[in-house]
Amino acid sequence: MSHLFAFDYHNPTRIVFGPDSFAQLPALVPADARILLLYGGGSIKKNGVYDGIRAALAGRDIVDFGGVEANPTLATLNLAVDLVKREKIGFVLGVGGGSVSDGAKYVASAALYDGDGWDIVIGKYAPKAALPVGIVLTLAATGSESNAAAVVTNTATLDKRAFYVPPARPQFAVLNPTVMASLPVRQLENGIVDAFVHVCEQYLTYPVGALVQDGYAEAVMKALVRLADTFAEHNETVWQQNLMWAANQALCGIIGVGVPQDWATHRIAVELTALWGIDHGRTLSIIQPALLRDLIEYKREKLEQLGREVFGLTAPSAEDAIAALEAFYRSVNMPLHLRDAGITEPDAADRVLAGLRAHGKMALGGHAAIDEAKTERIVRAAC
Ligand code: NZQ
Ligand code: ZN
Repeated sequence: MSHLFAFDYHNPTRIVFGPDSFAQLPALVPADARILLLYGGGSIKKNGVYDGIRAALAGRDIVDFGGVEANPTLATLNLAVDLVKREKIGFVLGVGGGSVSDGAKYVASAALYDGDGWDIVIGKYAPKAALPVGIVLTLAATGSESNAAAVVTNTATLDKRAFYVPPARPQFAVLNPTVMASLPVRQLENGIVDAFVHVCEQYLTYPVGALVQDGYAEAVMKALVRLADTFAEHNETVWQQNLMWAANQALCGIIGVGVPQDWATHRIAVELTALWGIDHGRTLSIIQPALLRDLIEYKREKLEQLGREVFGLTAPSAEDAIAALEAFYRSVNMPLHLRDAGITEPDAADRVLAGLRAHGKMALGGHAAIDEAKTERIVRAAC
């Protein structure tokens, strides 16, 4: 008899959404805190976001740290940790996409730890406290702005790792969709697909009779498919608002409560970014179809449900649903194989497999009992 699992859901991140949301910053950031303004490669200096935040927080004690990379590295974030310790920072304000948001969580936790910050990433040390974090989101994709997850790359070992730091979950997230106007089309495409796959990872397992979670997951996926279908309208306010909220809801935790999850696509896909720097969203569209085809018997019922409820197919097979998924990804210019992303080296699959082996991810297990043989088939089929 299928049923929901027990769960304990608490998402305390306050969301302030709207075109004038920067005006709330003075009330959101503690008045007496010395603030670290953490940001990325400089987009916020070009599109006015930096100036808007500085103006909203005029008179506050702010120290800047820029240069957090897309797919942030341990080395860069540790420079920010040193700055936080030296400057006695009391609040970390991340302004950017998932990379800066994740970086903010790492910095806020590592700043209160005397050991090697990588211990936090690998789970050797579980922080019980972190500096308070707030996020001003500039790219809708990851949901990082209101979850407890972060992803950091150790370039020395090509290890891109996801970890959880509940004490560093942002206290607030400012979602101002107008800041998306400066996003390149490629990042909007990435955002649609990353958010879609986040829902899939919490949905494409097996049915447990979770009417609310399934219904909400399908609503978010249908919204994302609609945004892809209406991509030509991406400069419209309502389009941007919907992507920002859909991406947030896809990974704020609500869809996944009480249901089985399977994050295998993400866990394999990060290796492609670690090796070749491929955008996160694009690594997912490369791995997921191959993974779903290999694990189709484990996921058949939910794939059929996806085809019916999200893609509007009549009596679809699981195979039909995967084909519809691929057409959706192609419609937003996603690669479906590694070669479509320009990686044609003959030993590409071997390199991915070596990375998975080195990082202990050849046998991911889970409901689809992923063993080494399945992982190898999936990776080879994705190349
Ligand atoms: O660095 P800047 O100059 O700001 O430019 C960024 C960056 O080059 C640019 N950008 C962001 N907002 C912009 C903008 N350009 C113009 N206008 C704006 N408004 O976009 C580029 C990509 O930014 P990034 O933050 O890297 O993208 P995304 O939000 O997709 O984040 C990707 C990272 O998040 C991790 C990924 O692995 C990757 O490291 N993830 C985090 C998750 C989480 N914490 O829950 C879940 C995800 O599955 C994901 O793994
Ligand atoms: Zn993702």
